[in-house]
Amino acid sequence: MASRSSSLASLLVIMILHLWSNTVFYVTGSSCFTSIISFGDSLADTGNLKQLASISDQQFPVLLSPYGENFYDHSTGRCSNGRLIIDFLAESLGLPLIPPFVHEKGIDNAIAFGQGVNFAVAGATALDSSVLETRGIVNPMTNASLRVQLEWFKHSLPSICGNASDCRKFIGNSLILMGEIGGNDYNYPILDGKLINEDSFVPLVIDSIVSTINELIEMGAQTLVVPGNLPVGCSGAYLTICGSETEEYDPKTGCLVRLNEFAEYHNELLQKKLNHLRELHPNVNIIYADYYNAAMQIYRSPEKYGFTNGGLKACCGGGGPYNFNSSAECGLTSASVCDEPDTYVCWDGIHLTEAAYKLIANNLFQGGYTTPQFNSLCPTSIFSSSM
Ligand SMILES: *[C@@H]1O[C@H](CO)[C@@H](O)[C@H](O)[C@H]1NC(C)=O
Ligand SMILES: *[C@@H]1O[C@H](CO)[C@@H](O)[C@H](O)[C@H]1NC(C)=O
Ligand SMILES: *[C@@H]1O[C@H](CO)[C@@H](O)[C@H](O)[C@H]1NC(C)=O
Repeated sequence: MASRSSSLASLLVIMILHLWSNTVFYVTGSSCFTSIISFGDSLADTGNLKQLASISDQQFPVLLSPYGENFYDHSTGRCSNGRLIIDFLAESLGLPLIPPFVHEKGIDNAIAFGQGVNFAVAGATALDSSVLETRGIVNPMTNASLRVQLEWFKHSLPSICGNASDCRKFIGNSLILMGEIGGNDYNYPILDGKLINEDSFVPLVIDSIVSTINELIEMGAQTLVVPGNLPVGCSGAYLTICGSETEEYDPKTGCLVRLNEFAEYHNELLQKKLNHLRELHPNVNIIYADYYNAAMQIYRSPEKYGFTNGGLKACCGGGGPYNFNSSAECGLTSASVCDEPDTYVCWDGIHLTEAAYKLIANNLFQGGYTTPQFNSLCPTSIFSSSM
């Protein structure tokens, strides 16, 4: 009896020490985090654009069938045929799928978000629409930029987590997924055939991401995962629109060298800033997620992973060498969908298939494509059983 109560007491002490220590990682238990708070664009949107569009009576092809059909029996607003990286991450942490913040009642009256809330909106940019407009860049999908998403979060905090001290705890115990965001700031001008001034524009995009991270840290964030850009030179849309005889193609993958170098430039600058943030906040876990190389591994040898239809050709599209046709996009009746999406890396010319996202999630959270390594902070195991 005595030994039992003393071991209970020491267990309590251990628990309290862990609650008080600067990290939020528990010694045992299936979940390292009580929730996921996500910001970003179509790589992480689990339904916000769909709700926003229905409220404002808009429609976008990515919200239509056959999106979502290989996991959900309908389109959920996810820009893939099934689940996204964030879904596999939630699963691996023992959390439910992360619900979109925007729901039937709009952006007010936050509902039960205790185990996670997702602010990512497909089409969203890191920079505000007004800033982009001064550079002649128009966002045809949404004005819900990263700053707008952060405002939604701040306004809904009381209904999500109560008073200030409870909210600080809630944020500190959450895994913050900061992106991917910024890709669309480049997509809109590049796919529109506009030249962008890398040296002035990329730092602006990075600054907006970094200042959002800073605000979240001030609000109590203890662990942030910050993804970089994907190798956009491998996307069917870029290959179709930007490809030409004078462009250099990577002989191993067939991807556009110039655009992949551009994505890498963004990623290098982002990592530099993250290093600086780590120095300023040594007690906060700032994890860089290398989406670029986690995906490149697949583009280099797609067959090895079961992608027998290769890395570059879209499963769903309206024809052409990469099955991407901007006047017959996936979701429109003029496009058609392949029989076996799991044998394709590319879903619609921009987004990847569920099978590819699953492999990338595995590369990131089980493998070595996070810095510092995610699985050394929080060992996740579900991927091995669900792969
Ligand atoms: C973005 O905001 C501008 C100005 O308020 C508005 O005219 C435009 O329709 C909005 N765009 C979208 C996609 O909601
Ligand atoms: C915040 O709310 C909790 C109950 O959820 C209460 O125990 C605590 O005292 C409150 N703190 C402040 C500062 O009001
Ligand atoms: C692209 O789609 C349009 C509209 O459906 C069609 O007329 C055109 O032939 C398609 N282009 C290719 C290369 O398949």
